[in-house]
Amino acid sequence: MKAVRFHEVGGPEVLRIEDVETPTPAAGQVRLRVAASAFSAADNGMRAGFLPIPIELPHVPGYDVSGTVDALGDDVEGLTVGDAVVAFLPMERDGGAAEYVVTPADAVVAAPTSIPLADAAGLPSVALTAWQALFDDGQLEAGQRVLVMGAGGVVGKYAIQLAVRAGVHVIATASPRSIDAVRAAGADEVIDHTTTDVHTAVTEPVDVLLNLAPIDPEEFTALVALVRDGGAVVSTTAFMATPGDESRGVRAATVFVLPNRARLTELVSLVDAGALTVEVTRRITLDQLPALHAEASEGRVTGKVVVLAE
Ligand SMILES: NC(=O)c1ccc[n+]([C@@H]2O[C@H](COP(=O)([O-])OP(=O)(O)OC[C@H]3O[C@@H](n4cnc5c(N)ncnc54)[C@H](OP(=O)(O)O)[C@@H]3O)[C@@H](O)[C@H]2O)c1
Repeated sequence: MKAVRFHEVGGPEVLRIEDVETPTPAAGQVRLRVAASAFSAADNGMRAGFLPIPIELPHVPGYDVSGTVDALGDDVEGLTVGDAVVAFLPMERDGGAAEYVVTPADAVVAAPTSIPLADAAGLPSVALTAWQALFDDGQLEAGQRVLVMGAGGVVGKYAIQLAVRAGVHVIATASPRSIDAVRAAGADEVIDHTTTDVHTAVTEPVDVLLNLAPIDPEEFTALVALVRDGGAVVSTTAFMATPGDESRGVRAATVFVLPNRARLTELVSLVDAGALTVEVTRRITLDQLPALHAEASEGRVTGKVVVLAE
């Protein structure tokens, strides 16, 4: 089969398109015929060698995947060849930038039926990140307020939709290119952070400050003042420390997304119910993935890009 792999960590040029043996599912695993994998910033970090995820080399990137069950290992129940599924694959194992991928059976859930199967690769880890940030780390409840920095990005738009649906009041920051999108996602208040001082615009304390953007660490620390006593600061930008304020009981939590099959199943249901939009900005082919990594290294990739396997 065709797969994109790297044999050593480094720049985008370490990615190669190769003919490799089609993997065989072991007990408890299934093989997927890949429809698409999604590109994530963490794929770039793993390939470059600066994320502490213990991958084995050579490695196939693309841990978010959609496809069709193609072969079953022993002891797999509840799945049938031909099932359309999505998965957040274990990040240290081979990903879906290939024609086939082997995955633990318990990582896959039925794919949404209301969107193209390839686009569904844009859902798993990012939507799980938004959910985990809001409700596990942030412990947000109906009637509370959240300020989302970087709400116009991929995680941000899932976070807005999930928070609003849970009855949380959402204040979103966005630059002009994303203002319409965060409004469409349902944000109650939108602050254009390029023209407006966030401290001035947020007039009442928030229960949770959720940061999804590469803001200046000093600015991040100053924003903690907007969080009520006993509230929380949650961040997905694990490359910088998350500030809290012990003197006021403001917790600091950094998100490291975890797989969660039940939750992914619920996210799929929300998509099919029309309550969660999966936005894919570009669809590329396997042979275009090295160029995409090069673009990402220069900070030029916006939105969710999926990589079609055929
Ligand atoms: N820790 C984890 O488990 C985990 C999981 C998933 C993602 N992540 C990380 O979480 C972050 C968000 O992910 P994503 O996929 O949503 O990224 P993204 O699509 O690039 O969104 C980030 C948003 O940040 C905004 N932004 C950029 N610079 C800003 C600034 N100086 N001030 C305010 N906003 C700014 C941009 O908003 P505009 O569009 O308004 O310009 C952009 O849309 C990334 O760093 C990603 O690597 C971590």
